[in-house]
Amino acid sequence: MTSPFVAVAGASGGLGQLIAMALIKRGVAVKALVRPNTDPSRTEKLRSAGATISPVDLSAVPTLTRELTGAMCVVSSLQGLRDVMHTAQGNLLEAAVAAKVPKFIPSDFSLDFTKTKPGSNRNLDLRREFHAQLKKSGIAWTSILNGGFMDLLVGDTPMVNHKSRKVAYIGEATQLLDFTSMVDTAAYTAAVAADPKPTPNFLRIAGDTVSAKDIANAETNVEGAQYKPGWMGPVWFIEIVIRVMRLFGGENEIFPAWQGMQYMTNMFSGVGKLEPLDNDRYPELVWTKVENFLREYKNNSSKK
Ligand SMILES: NC(=O)c1ccc[n+]([C@@H]2O[C@H](COP(=O)([O-])OP(=O)(O)OC[C@H]3O[C@@H](n4cnc5c(N)ncnc54)[C@H](OP(=O)(O)O)[C@@H]3O)[C@@H](O)[C@H]2O)c1
Repeated sequence: MTSPFVAVAGASGGLGQLIAMALIKRGVAVKALVRPNTDPSRTEKLRSAGATISPVDLSAVPTLTRELTGAMCVVSSLQGLRDVMHTAQGNLLEAAVAAKVPKFIPSDFSLDFTKTKPGSNRNLDLRREFHAQLKKSGIAWTSILNGGFMDLLVGDTPMVNHKSRKVAYIGEATQLLDFTSMVDTAAYTAAVAADPKPTPNFLRIAGDTVSAKDIANAETNVEGAQYKPGWMGPVWFIEIVIRVMRLFGGENEIFPAWQGMQYMTNMFSGVGKLEPLDNDRYPELVWTKVENFLREYKNNSSKK
């Protein structure tokens, strides 16, 4: 394919597909790396938008190196546990270095794990640990931290209960939390990937910064019925609950219930808060606010 292009690993996934589409919208050529034998129906949208679909085994570093040669950036949007976040993503990094790719964006897309305590969030620990490989590699890298996906506030979610009209919170209902929609996160990632200038190691973004109380008010406005914050307990208590729940398993799952609670304690303790924000780096980008996001979701679901 013509150089330069951006290679997106995990392009069959939720965020990866959006990043690839955002790059295409910017006029950037995309090579979508997917597992061999990925059902063509899963990549049809990307193919018809103009992406080159490259089935490749992430354990085959020499083949991967050939695939990445000529790329201006490798974006990883892989999701998984140690075998994926360290091993498969590590192979991707090794191949990017061998192919002399100038920039690597790891699959972080999270709260600020540079501040969360090791041991307090299993999935964030995996990402922080991967940064040791990144630093050693010598490649220029940029980690994008976006708080929670706003998309987690709609549909079946542990945070908003539409039956009881409660927005779950831990600690204080006024603690500010960062949320960015997946689409906005993808648009920003595409801007970073396509940026010909050097980009910093960390870029922090938030489409909206709101408390549980603010989310309850937004739900009230959108649903036309009173929503209230619902207390789950203090942060220290939930941390004990997590430790107990963890004794009953879930280590081989990406999102056992205790993992979701680890994200919540990191957010509600304020430790994973993103500051300062780098939202204004690409002035052409616009940010979706929580209330607008909820309203749009409701309008779209009522049309179905
Ligand atoms: N901040 C937040 O609230 C939040 C929420 C959710 C996700 N995220 C982050 O966003 C990023 C992407 O997540 P996502 O939700 O888009 O995940 P996803 O939909 O599960 O997609 C993950 C992608 O990784 C691919 N993959 C996994 N293991 C692989 C392997 N060994 N070889 C090749 N491909 C492999 C998957 O391929 P297959 O489809 O073939 O399995 C898929 O394309 C992750 O860093 C995740 O932690 C953040």
